[in-house]
Amino acid sequence: MAEQISAGLPPVSIRVSDDAHAVLAAQHGRALAARLGFSVVEQTACSTAILEIARNIVKYAGAGEVTFQAVEDGEQVGIVVVACDNGPGIADVNLALQDGYSTGGGLGLGLPGARRLMDSFQIVSRPGQGTTVVMQKWRSAAPVREHASSSRGRP
Ligand SMILES: Nc1ncnc2c1ncn2[C@@H]1O[C@H](COP(=O)(O)OP(=O)(O)O)[C@@H](O)[C@H]1O
Ligand SMILES: [Mg+2]
Repeated sequence: MAEQISAGLPPVSIRVSDDAHAVLAAQHGRALAARLGFSVVEQTACSTAILEIARNIVKYAGAGEVTFQAVEDGEQVGIVVVACDNGPGIADVNLALQDGYSTGGGLGLGLPGARRLMDSFQIVSRPGQGTTVVMQKWRSAAPVREHASSSRGRP
């Protein structure tokens, strides 16, 4: 990611310590994706992945932070989301990424689902120190203009 530069928007961090904050983080991710011209499907992918990761912070670590950064690389425009906490960490990241694995009585689909929805997905975790999830999604094609329906009727 070294060659990427900010797409002119400053990074934004949202502190997450309950599920309402997780929803706010997901909404912020959707809004940023929309602003960058992501399709509605791509916006939904971003917000769904962010909601899962942010809810994991609340459930397993109690609190943490989700940071959003718009990036560009040549013609490409994307979103990088970094979610970090100082919680208990994940002992076996590969296990945690398997469908159906949960230590919390959940469905165990949050991490693997988020990984599938994004273009890149990394977890760095140390037991007792915390967890950082870094995930990225590129806009797939030409930018989709927000409120495209308002152009109806124009020549
Ligand atoms: N931020 C985190 N801190 C500690 N453990 C986590 C964190 N996020 C996920 N995990 C671990 O990874 C497992 C899988 O997470 P996930 O796929 O979201 O499923 P679920 O939330 O349904 O358990 C969790 O059960 C938990 O053990
Ligand atoms: Mg989860």
